[in-house]
Amino acid sequence: MKPTFLIGFMGSGKSTIAKLLADDFVDLDTVIVEKIGMSISDFFEQFGEAKFRELETETLKSVSTTHQIISTGGGIVMSEENRQFLKDADVNVVYLEGDFDKLYARILADKENIRPIAISRTREELFDIYQHRADLYDAVATHKICVTDKTPEEIVKEIQL
Ligand code: S3P
Repeated sequence: MKPTFLIGFMGSGKSTIAKLLADDFVDLDTVIVEKIGMSISDFFEQFGEAKFRELETETLKSVSTTHQIISTGGGIVMSEENRQFLKDADVNVVYLEGDFDKLYARILADKENIRPIAISRTREELFDIYQHRADLYDAVATHKICVTDKTPEEIVKEIQL
């Protein structure tokens, strides 16, 4: 099977689904956290988003062919370089698409994983980002699955690669 990337907005369940799809999975944010030795929110605070995006691109390229399932951070499609990389690679790109307010509620409820992109913005500001990114996810996806009101097991069943 081709390597499979999971993309989608924060809170869409990319890491949870990745774990259920195969034992051989990797989460890009986890690799980044191991590299930087601090949380992503601390990194944003100390070095800024641009530096994080550089690391994200570097990590995307380095792990792509070494694992079967790769879950990505919600901002992976912000860079043209990353989008091109995903389009050119011979891989599946599964977009987990969900209703904004349901994702927003999950993001706010998740106290373990503080998202700097979300905590610094109002709901309206984050909704603008969601809408902008939706087109970018669509542009690189080879598969699109609606996750709203579905259990992880149901979503996994729908992902036919
Ligand atoms: C980000 C999403 C986060 C993480 C970082 C930036 C984003 O990953 O990569 O905080 O820009 O949407 P999740 O989508 O796993 O929350």
